[in-house]
Amino acid sequence: MSTASLIDRFSRSVVPTYGRFPLAFTRGQGSFLWDPEGKRYLDFGAGIAVCSIGHAHPALAHAVAQQAQTLIHTSNLYHTEPQAHLAEKLVSLIGPGKCFFCNSGAEANETLFKLARKFGHDSGRHEILTTINSFHGRTLAGIAATGQDKVKKGFEPAVEGFRHVPFNDLDAMRAAVSDKTIAILVEGIQGEGGVHAAIPEYLLGLRKLCDERKLLLFVDSVQCGMFRTGQFQSYQRILENSQAAQTPNAGGPPNSAIRNPQSAFLPDAISMAKGIAGGLPMGAVWIRQPYSDILGPGTHGTTFGGTPLACAAALSVFTVIEKEKLADNARTFGEYLQTQLVLQKSSRIRNVRGLGLMIGVELQPDIPSLAVEGKTPAIVMVNKLHDAGLLTIPSGNHTIRLLPPLNVNMYESNHALQKIAEVLAAL
Ligand SMILES: Cc1ncc(COP(=O)(O)O)c(C=O)c1O
Repeated sequence: MSTASLIDRFSRSVVPTYGRFPLAFTRGQGSFLWDPEGKRYLDFGAGIAVCSIGHAHPALAHAVAQQAQTLIHTSNLYHTEPQAHLAEKLVSLIGPGKCFFCNSGAEANETLFKLARKFGHDSGRHEILTTINSFHGRTLAGIAATGQDKVKKGFEPAVEGFRHVPFNDLDAMRAAVSDKTIAILVEGIQGEGGVHAAIPEYLLGLRKLCDERKLLLFVDSVQCGMFRTGQFQSYQRILENSQAAQTPNAGGPPNSAIRNPQSAFLPDAISMAKGIAGGLPMGAVWIRQPYSDILGPGTHGTTFGGTPLACAAALSVFTVIEKEKLADNARTFGEYLQTQLVLQKSSRIRNVRGLGLMIGVELQPDIPSLAVEGKTPAIVMVNKLHDAGLLTIPSGNHTIRLLPPLNVNMYESNHALQKIAEVLAAL
């Protein structure tokens, strides 16, 4: 099987919803992937922030194999130990509440939308405010919630009840609240919209606004969660130096991977997916007390959500992250990569931003060799990096995203920096 023949088979049998790159992969190990011809790529995309502990991690492979030999699925008509254990884990890392499990980020957000509708139903409030350039998934409600026109085009009429306001603009959010508004949904760091982090004052202001107006505050943590920023949740990282957001950490957990989980700032619900099970499909929603029983029996569900297999995988990913201190690693190498990229900052790079291992490299807007008809400069740059053996992800029109596995090391970081420098020099 060659890359060319695989691409040909896809073009004949797979619905072309993705503008796929002309690459195929047959195996992975750690931060590397190999194509059918044997070429090795350094994977700084990690399946779009999914392969949190890299490819083929022995602990994850072992947990999945063992669980597959024990019990893969029962449905949610029954109880299983791995789901209980994982829910307890998430609650311990976030705060008092309960969890719902599903299979993707879009489904996790769908759960938030239904929670808001149910919560506001009797008072006649149903509107959810989100932000411009946000991304919340590809379901009909997901694209209605997403603050980007390109995902909505051709699918009108949109699901009713979503409005978008500029990100990090508290006054705009405050002004947008109407007597129909029931919830506000923001990403801690906008991933698809160019890697833009919420500022502490914004998050704290949204919490205050929601308390004043009796709104639910939702955080979409699908891409920026799971320790990618150096904390489990990106808001924990964003607010870690903010006095107003902290209460004393009672005793503190032994592992620095879980620094100050007892933040005084808590959203009312959080959607998670992507990296949570290290590559197995899983979505999760944490819902704060006293809202955690609003979605009662018969109101919501999914056949596959929280299977023993996916939960066992997620639990093993948490164990690896804690044992190998990968939150600290994300912080260390995130800072290293950003510092080195800023030093590289040439006439080609306009800005470097992000937190931990969620890094956006914004290119200068008018680089002639990136101007290709029908493609954004970010996609052209990503193609050039592919040729050099480095996988990255476009974000917005001019930004490339670096999302390496959380266990990335110095050799791999330097290797990526060198490839980026070489490609930039050749532009
Ligand atoms: C912030 C955010 N929310 C939701 C989603 C949708 O997740 P999924 O593709 O698993 O449905 C994504 C996917 O990129 C995302 O980045």
